[in-house]
Amino acid sequence: MRLASAADAARAIRTMQVRGAPLIGATAAYGLALALASDASDAGLEHARSLLLATRPTAVNLRWALDRVRAKVAPLAPTARAAAAWGEADAIAAEDVAANRALGEYGLRIIEALSARGPEPVQILTHCNAGALATLGWGTATAPIYLARAAGIPIHVWVSETRPRLQGARLTAWELREQGVPFTLIVDAAGAALMRQRRVDLVLVGADRVTRNGDVCNKVGTYEKALAARDNGIPMYAAAPSATFDWTLAAGEDVPIEERDAQEVLYPSSGEAIAPSDTAVANPAFDVTPGRLLAGLITERGVCAADPQALAALFPEQAR
Ligand code: MRU
Repeated sequence: MRLASAADAARAIRTMQVRGAPLIGATAAYGLALALASDASDAGLEHARSLLLATRPTAVNLRWALDRVRAKVAPLAPTARAAAAWGEADAIAAEDVAANRALGEYGLRIIEALSARGPEPVQILTHCNAGALATLGWGTATAPIYLARAAGIPIHVWVSETRPRLQGARLTAWELREQGVPFTLIVDAAGAALMRQRRVDLVLVGADRVTRNGDVCNKVGTYEKALAARDNGIPMYAAAPSATFDWTLAAGEDVPIEERDAQEVLYPSSGEAIAPSDTAVANPAFDVTPGRLLAGLITERGVCAADPQALAALFPEQAR
Protein backbone atom coordinates (compact mmCIF):
# COMPACT_ATOMS: atom_id res chain seq x y z
CA MET A 1 0.00 0.00 0.00
CA ARG A 2 1.10 3.60 -0.57
CA LEU A 3 0.76 6.29 2.09
CA ALA A 4 0.69 9.80 0.66
CA SER A 5 -0.31 11.93 3.65
CA ALA A 6 -0.32 12.15 7.43
CA ALA A 7 -4.02 11.18 7.28
CA ASP A 8 -3.10 8.04 5.31
CA ALA A 9 -0.42 7.18 7.87
CA ALA A 10 -2.77 7.80 10.78
CA ARG A 11 -5.46 5.61 9.27
CA ALA A 12 -2.97 2.82 8.54
CA ILE A 13 -1.79 2.87 12.18
CA ARG A 14 -5.27 3.13 13.72
CA THR A 15 -6.72 0.30 11.59
CA MET A 16 -3.56 -1.81 12.09
CA GLN A 17 -2.69 -2.01 8.41
CA VAL A 18 0.70 -1.27 9.89
CA ARG A 19 1.19 -2.48 13.45
CA GLY A 20 3.95 -3.47 15.84
CA ALA A 21 5.66 -0.83 18.01
CA PRO A 22 8.76 -0.09 15.87
CA LEU A 23 6.81 0.02 12.60
CA ILE A 24 4.16 2.26 14.16
CA GLY A 25 6.92 4.69 15.19
CA ALA A 26 8.57 4.74 11.76
CA THR A 27 5.25 5.10 9.94
CA ALA A 28 4.36 8.07 12.14
CA ALA A 29 7.74 9.67 11.44
CA TYR A 30 7.18 9.38 7.68
CA GLY A 31 3.60 10.61 8.18
CA LEU A 32 4.94 13.77 9.81
CA ALA A 33 7.39 14.27 6.93
CA LEU A 34 4.52 13.91 4.44
CA ALA A 35 2.50 16.49 6.35
CA LEU A 36 5.38 18.98 6.37
CA ALA A 37 5.62 18.70 2.59
CA SER A 38 2.21 20.36 2.36
CA ASP A 39 2.19 22.57 5.50
CA ALA A 40 5.53 23.16 7.22
CA SER A 41 4.28 25.86 9.56
CA ASP A 42 4.43 25.47 13.34
CA ALA A 43 0.66 24.97 13.32
CA GLY A 44 0.99 22.38 10.55
CA LEU A 45 3.67 20.53 12.49
CA GLU A 46 1.61 20.42 15.69
CA HIS A 47 -1.57 19.46 13.89
CA ALA A 48 0.05 16.52 12.12
CA ARG A 49 1.86 15.41 15.26
CA SER A 50 -1.40 15.42 17.26
CA LEU A 51 -3.25 13.56 14.51
CA LEU A 52 -0.62 10.80 14.45
CA LEU A 53 -0.14 10.66 18.22
CA ALA A 54 -3.88 10.11 18.72
CA THR A 55 -3.93 6.89 16.69
CA ARG A 56 -2.96 4.32 19.34
CA PRO A 57 -1.96 4.96 23.00
CA THR A 58 0.22 2.04 24.09
CA ALA A 59 3.30 1.56 21.87
CA VAL A 60 5.69 4.28 23.10
CA ASN A 61 7.65 4.20 19.82
CA LEU A 62 4.87 6.36 18.38
CA ARG A 63 5.51 9.28 20.75
CA TRP A 64 9.28 8.65 20.68
CA ALA A 65 9.45 8.93 16.88
CA LEU A 66 7.15 11.97 16.66
CA ASP A 67 9.08 13.82 19.36
CA ARG A 68 12.39 12.98 17.68
CA VAL A 69 11.25 14.35 14.32
CA ARG A 70 9.73 17.43 15.92
CA ALA A 71 12.94 18.14 17.87
CA LYS A 72 14.85 17.88 14.59
CA VAL A 73 12.67 20.19 12.52
CA ALA A 74 11.25 22.72 15.00
CA PRO A 75 14.44 24.87 15.02
CA LEU A 76 14.53 24.91 11.20
CA ALA A 77 13.01 27.33 8.72
CA PRO A 78 9.73 25.90 7.38
CA THR A 79 11.28 25.52 3.92
CA ALA A 80 13.85 23.08 5.31
CA ARG A 81 11.53 21.03 7.49
CA ALA A 82 10.06 18.47 5.11
CA ALA A 83 13.45 17.23 3.86
CA ALA A 84 14.89 17.17 7.37
CA ALA A 85 11.89 15.23 8.65
CA TRP A 86 12.23 12.70 5.86
CA GLY A 87 15.91 12.29 6.67
CA GLU A 88 15.09 11.72 10.33
CA ALA A 89 12.44 9.15 9.43
CA ASP A 90 15.02 7.36 7.28
CA ALA A 91 17.44 7.40 10.23
CA ILE A 92 14.78 5.96 12.56
CA ALA A 93 14.13 3.19 10.02
CA ALA A 94 17.81 2.35 9.55
CA GLU A 95 18.49 2.38 13.30
CA ASP A 96 15.62 -0.02 13.87
CA VAL A 97 17.11 -2.57 11.48
CA ALA A 98 20.53 -2.20 13.14
CA ALA A 99 19.11 -2.42 16.67
CA ASN A 100 17.13 -5.58 15.86
CA ARG A 101 20.16 -7.19 14.26
CA ALA A 102 22.23 -6.34 17.34
CA LEU A 103 19.68 -7.61 19.87
CA GLY A 104 19.33 -10.69 17.67
CA GLU A 105 22.99 -11.51 18.31
CA TYR A 106 22.48 -11.27 22.08
CA GLY A 107 19.36 -13.41 21.88
CA LEU A 108 21.20 -15.94 19.74
CA ARG A 109 23.60 -16.61 22.64
CA ILE A 110 20.63 -17.64 24.79
CA ILE A 111 19.46 -20.08 22.12
CA GLU A 112 23.02 -21.39 21.62
CA ALA A 113 23.35 -22.08 25.35
CA LEU A 114 20.07 -24.03 25.33
CA SER A 115 21.09 -25.88 22.18
CA ALA A 116 24.34 -26.98 23.79
CA ARG A 117 22.27 -29.20 26.10
CA GLY A 118 21.64 -31.79 23.39
CA PRO A 119 20.75 -32.53 19.76
CA GLU A 120 17.01 -31.87 20.15
CA PRO A 121 15.64 -28.69 18.62
CA VAL A 122 15.35 -25.77 21.01
CA GLN A 123 11.62 -25.33 21.61
CA ILE A 124 10.74 -21.62 21.50
CA LEU A 125 7.28 -20.20 22.18
CA THR A 126 6.32 -16.76 20.91
CA HIS A 127 3.15 -14.67 21.19
CA CYS A 128 1.77 -12.10 18.74
CA ASN A 129 4.00 -10.94 15.89
CA ALA A 130 7.23 -9.27 17.00
CA GLY A 131 8.71 -10.11 13.64
CA ALA A 132 10.13 -8.41 10.57
CA LEU A 133 6.55 -7.42 9.65
CA ALA A 134 6.28 -5.40 12.88
CA THR A 135 9.57 -3.58 12.35
CA LEU A 136 11.82 -2.31 9.59
CA GLY A 137 13.69 -5.62 9.53
CA TRP A 138 14.64 -8.78 11.46
CA GLY A 139 11.91 -8.29 14.07
CA THR A 140 12.66 -8.26 17.79
CA ALA A 141 11.60 -11.65 19.21
CA THR A 142 12.26 -13.18 15.79
CA ALA A 143 15.77 -11.78 15.25
CA PRO A 144 17.45 -14.43 17.47
CA ILE A 145 15.30 -17.08 15.80
CA TYR A 146 16.38 -16.05 12.29
CA LEU A 147 20.03 -15.90 13.35
CA ALA A 148 19.77 -19.34 14.97
CA ARG A 149 18.24 -20.66 11.76
CA ALA A 150 21.06 -19.13 9.72
CA ALA A 151 23.60 -20.66 12.11
CA GLY A 152 22.04 -24.10 11.57
CA ILE A 153 20.93 -24.49 15.18
CA PRO A 154 17.97 -26.92 15.40
CA ILE A 155 14.94 -24.95 16.58
CA HIS A 156 11.17 -25.25 16.56
CA VAL A 157 8.75 -22.42 17.28
CA TRP A 158 5.33 -22.66 18.93
CA VAL A 159 3.31 -19.79 17.48
CA SER A 160 0.48 -18.56 19.68
CA GLU A 161 -2.37 -17.50 17.33
CA THR A 162 -3.02 -14.28 19.32
CA ARG A 163 -6.67 -13.53 19.43
CA PRO A 164 -8.50 -11.37 18.50
CA ARG A 165 -6.48 -10.05 15.50
CA LEU A 166 -4.48 -13.29 15.09
CA GLN A 167 -1.07 -11.67 14.54
CA GLY A 168 0.56 -15.00 15.37
CA ALA A 169 -1.49 -17.09 12.95
CA ARG A 170 -1.63 -14.48 10.17
CA LEU A 171 1.83 -12.84 10.41
CA THR A 172 4.33 -14.85 12.48
CA ALA A 173 3.34 -18.13 10.81
CA TRP A 174 3.71 -16.48 7.40
CA GLU A 175 7.14 -15.08 8.26
CA LEU A 176 8.49 -18.32 9.69
CA ARG A 177 7.24 -20.22 6.66
CA GLU A 178 8.96 -17.73 4.36
CA GLN A 179 12.19 -18.14 6.33
CA GLY A 180 11.98 -21.93 6.50
CA VAL A 181 11.80 -22.00 10.30
CA PRO A 182 9.96 -25.08 11.65
CA PHE A 183 6.90 -24.00 13.62
CA THR A 184 3.55 -25.17 14.96
CA LEU A 185 0.51 -22.95 15.38
CA ILE A 186 -1.35 -23.21 18.70
CA VAL A 187 -4.36 -21.56 20.26
CA ASP A 188 -3.37 -19.02 22.89
CA ALA A 189 -4.57 -21.15 25.78
CA ALA A 190 -2.37 -24.12 24.79
CA GLY A 191 0.92 -22.40 25.64
CA ALA A 192 0.74 -23.01 29.39
CA ALA A 193 -0.06 -26.71 28.92
CA LEU A 194 2.91 -27.13 26.58
CA MET A 195 5.15 -25.51 29.17
CA ARG A 196 3.87 -27.83 31.90
CA GLN A 197 4.56 -30.79 29.60
CA ARG A 198 8.19 -29.53 29.33
CA ARG A 199 7.73 -29.02 25.57
CA VAL A 200 8.96 -25.42 25.71
CA ASP A 201 12.57 -24.40 26.50
CA LEU A 202 12.33 -20.66 26.00
CA VAL A 203 9.67 -17.99 25.60
CA LEU A 204 10.52 -14.97 23.42
CA VAL A 205 8.17 -12.02 23.04
CA GLY A 206 8.35 -8.39 21.96
CA ALA A 207 7.27 -5.26 23.79
CA ASP A 208 5.25 -2.09 23.22
CA ARG A 209 6.58 -0.25 26.23
CA VAL A 210 9.16 -1.11 28.88
CA THR A 211 9.10 1.03 32.02
CA ARG A 212 11.99 2.11 34.23
CA ASN A 213 11.48 -0.78 36.68
CA GLY A 214 11.61 -3.41 33.91
CA ASP A 215 7.87 -4.09 33.59
CA VAL A 216 6.92 -5.01 30.03
CA CYS A 217 3.72 -4.04 28.25
CA ASN A 218 3.00 -6.28 25.25
CA LYS A 219 0.13 -7.96 23.42
CA VAL A 220 -2.64 -9.19 25.70
CA GLY A 221 -1.90 -12.76 26.69
CA THR A 222 1.79 -12.13 27.33
CA TYR A 223 1.29 -11.91 31.11
CA GLU A 224 -0.32 -15.34 31.32
CA LYS A 225 2.57 -16.78 29.29
CA ALA A 226 4.94 -15.26 31.86
CA LEU A 227 3.01 -16.79 34.76
CA ALA A 228 3.11 -20.22 33.15
CA ALA A 229 6.79 -19.87 32.27
CA ARG A 230 7.68 -18.89 35.83
CA ASP A 231 5.58 -21.71 37.29
CA ASN A 232 7.45 -24.19 35.11
CA GLY A 233 10.93 -22.71 35.46
CA ILE A 234 11.13 -21.76 31.77
CA PRO A 235 13.12 -18.62 30.90
CA MET A 236 11.05 -15.88 29.24
CA TYR A 237 12.65 -12.85 27.64
CA ALA A 238 11.18 -9.72 26.13
CA ALA A 239 13.18 -8.39 23.18
CA ALA A 240 12.97 -4.65 22.50
CA PRO A 241 15.12 -1.88 21.03
CA SER A 242 15.70 1.07 23.36
CA ALA A 243 13.17 3.13 21.35
CA THR A 244 10.57 1.00 23.15
CA PHE A 245 11.73 2.02 26.61
CA ASP A 246 9.70 4.70 28.38
CA TRP A 247 12.04 6.28 30.91
CA THR A 248 9.28 8.68 32.00
CA LEU A 249 7.20 5.88 33.59
CA ALA A 250 8.21 4.21 36.85
CA ALA A 251 6.13 1.03 36.52
CA GLY A 252 3.89 -0.97 34.19
CA GLU A 253 0.62 0.06 35.78
CA ASP A 254 1.25 3.58 34.48
CA VAL A 255 1.13 2.44 30.83
CA PRO A 256 -2.07 3.43 28.96
CA ILE A 257 -3.68 0.20 27.73
CA GLU A 258 -5.56 0.47 24.44
CA GLU A 259 -9.14 -0.81 24.49
CA ARG A 260 -10.09 -1.75 20.96
CA ASP A 261 -13.45 -2.26 19.26
CA ALA A 262 -15.73 -5.12 20.33
CA GLN A 263 -16.09 -6.07 16.68
CA GLU A 264 -12.57 -7.45 16.73
CA VAL A 265 -13.66 -10.01 19.31
CA LEU A 266 -17.14 -10.75 17.98
CA TYR A 267 -16.02 -11.11 14.35
CA PRO A 268 -12.57 -12.74 14.40
CA SER A 269 -12.52 -12.82 10.63
CA SER A 270 -15.01 -11.38 8.18
CA GLY A 271 -17.34 -14.31 8.83
CA GLU A 272 -20.04 -14.90 11.38
CA ALA A 273 -20.19 -13.37 14.82
CA ILE A 274 -19.01 -15.76 17.51
CA ALA A 275 -21.56 -14.39 19.97
CA PRO A 276 -24.81 -12.41 19.78
CA SER A 277 -23.88 -9.01 18.39
CA ASP A 278 -25.21 -7.24 21.49
CA THR A 279 -22.86 -9.19 23.75
CA ALA A 280 -20.89 -7.00 26.15
CA VAL A 281 -17.22 -7.27 25.19
CA ALA A 282 -13.96 -6.11 26.79
CA ASN A 283 -11.04 -5.96 24.35
CA PRO A 284 -7.84 -4.73 26.03
CA ALA A 285 -5.16 -4.99 23.36
CA PHE A 286 -2.20 -5.20 25.75
CA ASP A 287 -1.26 -6.32 29.24
CA VAL A 288 1.66 -5.76 31.60
CA THR A 289 4.13 -8.42 32.68
CA PRO A 290 5.98 -7.51 35.87
CA GLY A 291 9.73 -7.59 35.36
CA ARG A 292 10.09 -10.04 38.25
CA LEU A 293 8.51 -12.78 36.10
CA LEU A 294 11.04 -12.36 33.29
CA ALA A 295 14.47 -13.96 32.91
CA GLY A 296 15.52 -10.71 31.27
CA LEU A 297 15.30 -8.09 28.55
CA ILE A 298 17.13 -8.45 25.22
CA THR A 299 18.21 -5.06 23.87
CA GLU A 300 20.64 -3.80 21.24
CA ARG A 301 23.10 -3.10 24.06
CA GLY A 302 22.88 -6.55 25.57
CA VAL A 303 20.78 -8.67 27.88
CA CYS A 304 19.91 -7.49 31.37
CA ALA A 305 17.62 -8.44 34.22
CA ALA A 306 14.21 -6.74 34.08
CA ASP A 307 14.85 -4.57 37.10
CA PRO A 308 15.71 -0.88 37.68
CA GLN A 309 19.32 -1.46 38.74
CA ALA A 310 20.18 -3.63 35.74
CA LEU A 311 18.48 -1.20 33.36
CA ALA A 312 20.30 1.75 34.90
CA ALA A 313 23.59 -0.13 34.43
CA LEU A 314 22.85 -0.85 30.76
CA PHE A 315 21.46 2.65 30.09
CA PRO A 316 23.47 4.87 32.48
CA GLU A 317 22.40 8.02 30.61
CA GLN A 318 18.83 7.27 31.66
CA ALA A 319 19.65 6.63 35.33
CA ARG A 320 17.98 9.06 37.81
O1 MRU B 1 -1.59 -4.57 18.37
P1 MRU B 1 -0.26 -4.81 17.72
O2 MRU B 1 -0.30 -5.86 16.66
O3 MRU B 1 0.39 -3.53 17.25
O4 MRU B 1 0.66 -5.38 18.92
C1 MRU B 1 1.98 -5.68 18.64
C2 MRU B 1 2.72 -6.27 19.77
O5 MRU B 1 2.25 -6.42 20.88
C3 MRU B 1 4.17 -6.62 19.51
O6 MRU B 1 4.56 -7.73 20.27
C4 MRU B 1 5.06 -5.43 19.84
O7 MRU B 1 4.55 -4.29 19.24
C5 MRU B 1 6.49 -5.64 19.42
S1 MRU B 1 6.67 -5.57 17.71
C6 MRU B 1 8.33 -5.79 17.47
